[in-house]
Amino acid sequence: MPFISLLTPCFLCVLQQLTFPLLLSVGAAVIGSLQFGYNTGVINAPQKVIERFINNTWEQRYNEPITKGSLTAIWSIAVAIFSVGGIFGSFSVGLFVNRFGRRNSMLIVNVLSFISAVLMGFSKLASSWEMLIIGRFVVGLYSGLSTGFVPMYVGEVSPTALRGALGTLHQLGIVVGILIAQVFGLEAVMGNDDLWPLLLSFIFVFAVIQCILLPLCPESPRFLLINKNEENKAKNVLKKLRGTSDVSTDIKEMKEESRKMMSEPKVTILELFRSHRYRQPLVVAVVLQLSQQLSGINAVFYYSTRIFEKAGVEQPVYATIGAGVVNTAFTVVSLFIVERAGRRSLHLIGLFGMAGATILMTIALALLEKLKWMSYLSIVAIFSFVAFFEIGPGPIPWFIVAELFSQGPRPAAIAVAGFSNWTANFIVGMCFQYIEELTYPYVFIIFTVLLLIFFIFTYFKVPETKGRTFDDIAAGFGGSSVTRGEKFSPEELNSLGADSQL
Ligand code: GLC
Repeated sequence: MPFISLLTPCFLCVLQQLTFPLLLSVGAAVIGSLQFGYNTGVINAPQKVIERFINNTWEQRYNEPITKGSLTAIWSIAVAIFSVGGIFGSFSVGLFVNRFGRRNSMLIVNVLSFISAVLMGFSKLASSWEMLIIGRFVVGLYSGLSTGFVPMYVGEVSPTALRGALGTLHQLGIVVGILIAQVFGLEAVMGNDDLWPLLLSFIFVFAVIQCILLPLCPESPRFLLINKNEENKAKNVLKKLRGTSDVSTDIKEMKEESRKMMSEPKVTILELFRSHRYRQPLVVAVVLQLSQQLSGINAVFYYSTRIFEKAGVEQPVYATIGAGVVNTAFTVVSLFIVERAGRRSLHLIGLFGMAGATILMTIALALLEKLKWMSYLSIVAIFSFVAFFEIGPGPIPWFIVAELFSQGPRPAAIAVAGFSNWTANFIVGMCFQYIEELTYPYVFIIFTVLLLIFFIFTYFKVPETKGRTFDDIAAGFGGSSVTRGEKFSPEELNSLGADSQL
């Protein structure tokens, strides 16, 4: 399908549905994604500067310079402990969302952001890289919680036809956060010996903005109606969000979901694993998360400056920013095409393209000594790697989980998916530097193999969710797919038919 035709249809209907309250709600929520992205990207450019601080502190304490091994270990821990926080945070999503509601949960957890800003901001003054590490853990907690809250809230306030596009805004928040961090991390801005503590603690500015905006946003109408049984409130919120007084279709859909939920009241994480009916969507959700992280994307976002340096690029920091710009640009592309091209096909295209890019990267690294210009090929390879990532594997896994499950099991499913995502994120962050040293220049081949495995899985097992109601998608997995057969493509019917074998 030509790209332009993906953009044009129904432009007006889209504009009509984008009301100010909807944009405000989604905008305020994705500041959480922005903070997550900022913390992902912030330790990339100033690696050397902060390593210098660690070295100086070490010398002050032990009267000898730090060994290379200890420095790599402290640095890898400082990078990767963020995802350990993410693991705990994402797993705790369910504790918050059903008790405090979606919006208030997002608001409350900003406390973590402030605590972390203080710890990281004062770590230099206190000559303590431990404070830096604890601060990274705490902001990891915040980010893990946000990766559950934001897609859930956005999915629940959005009209069905815009769920994918608005869901992609979570990823857009993340990539803009990464880009801001990369630019702020330039030596001339804050990535220098004096200002790096401010660079790391800058998150408090985002936290303040979010704390001002969120109270102006409504609670999720789906939460109000289905969890709280407050129909009038839900109606009022929906009227504002949709900009129309007739919200009967939304209410009808939610009531239908609520009715179904009565027969499967509260689903705990344990029940989610035990129940046969959730098995296939759960496997799909988890593998999609793994495909996002084990694609190797964060090897780039944590370590690209170093990767480019090793690949012979003269201005590695600028190449890193280039990767951030490509990353942002292609997330915007995805935003516009996801409701037309569908989640499944974009995910497939993304994985395949990334696999190609890792092969290019391997060629570039392997031939670097013989051919100097290979450093340019490595830039092309990393840029296309990132571009293909944002076409599908970046945004889609985050919001598709909310689509694959109905209101009952959704919080538990999001927690499990988030846990898988962050665990894989941790593994890549922690191990990349070590594996790279062992396998150089062939480290990217590992990602090629993984990407192809995920491609095959997606092809056979992942159904399309575009344009379908939550209830319909859940029913597709729940065994009533026969009555809805006309909505599935042949591959999806295949994958649903395999339900009992999974
Ligand atoms: C996704 C990943 C995140 C990664 C980012 C890069 O949101 O979850 O870990 O850093 O994309 O754009």
